[in-house]
Amino acid sequence: MGKAIFITGTGTDVGKTYVTALIVKKLRQAGKNAGYYKAAISGAEKGAAGELLPGDALYVNEEAGIGETAENLVSYVYEEAVSPHLAAKLNRCPIDFDRVETAFRRAKEKYDYLTVEGSGGIICPLRWDETQHVILDDLVVRLRLGAIVVADAGLGTINAAVLTIEHLKLRHIPVAGVILNRYHPGDVMEEDNRRMITEITGVPVIACVKPEDSVLDIDPEVLAGLYK
Ligand SMILES: Nc1ncnc2c1ncn2[C@@H]1O[C@H](COP(=O)(O)OP(=O)(O)OP(=O)(O)O)[C@@H](O)[C@H]1O
Ligand SMILES: [Mg+2]
Repeated sequence: MGKAIFITGTGTDVGKTYVTALIVKKLRQAGKNAGYYKAAISGAEKGAAGELLPGDALYVNEEAGIGETAENLVSYVYEEAVSPHLAAKLNRCPIDFDRVETAFRRAKEKYDYLTVEGSGGIICPLRWDETQHVILDDLVVRLRLGAIVVADAGLGTINAAVLTIEHLKLRHIPVAGVILNRYHPGDVMEEDNRRMITEITGVPVIACVKPEDSVLDIDPEVLAGLYK
């Protein structure tokens, strides 16, 4: 059984997929058997044959050279660009968390280092119907994952990153570190954001990703050590 980590972010479009691809690529280039899994994608585009394409997963699969099939990378793919709980409702196709756990375990058996990407931020409802109320943090607890928080480097990030970390701590989800995305070295505010997030929360900023970076600036052994 391999190890895993959960990638969450301070919100949608913050760069979870972009950073996840760099993470998986770094591990694989260091010779490690690293894979990817995402429970649910919404806002999927359609392919030539009208099939729904799990964009995030296909991007990471390609960039990191995993070579996995789409169905093993993602369990639920919805077309509507809305929260998974709403997309599921619109499609009458609710997430079955037993199925998600089975897919996750299978992936964890296949890969030594499995990176699990979340949808949106940590408060992202996955299922909200007559039978179940499940938010993304509930799934992270169920799968016993620790987390890395991807946050934008710019204005407003202290609030967003600290709130996300405080919530993870409240749910007893271990926080391995923060990765700041769209970071501009030398920018006084961004460098202060980097310090302040750690000073307030005690969580280290383990890497900073600049616009268009194609390599994650972290020792692969340190990165691998964050997986549990
Ligand atoms: N450091 C970066 N340099 C260049 N482009 C970036 C960078 N980070 C993110 N992007 C681009 O910004 C967009 C949003 O990033 P991404 O898809 O990784 O966000 P996300 O947090 O995974 O979003 P979602 O919540 O939809 O999963 C994408 O087009 C991505 O390629
Ligand atoms: Mg994504």
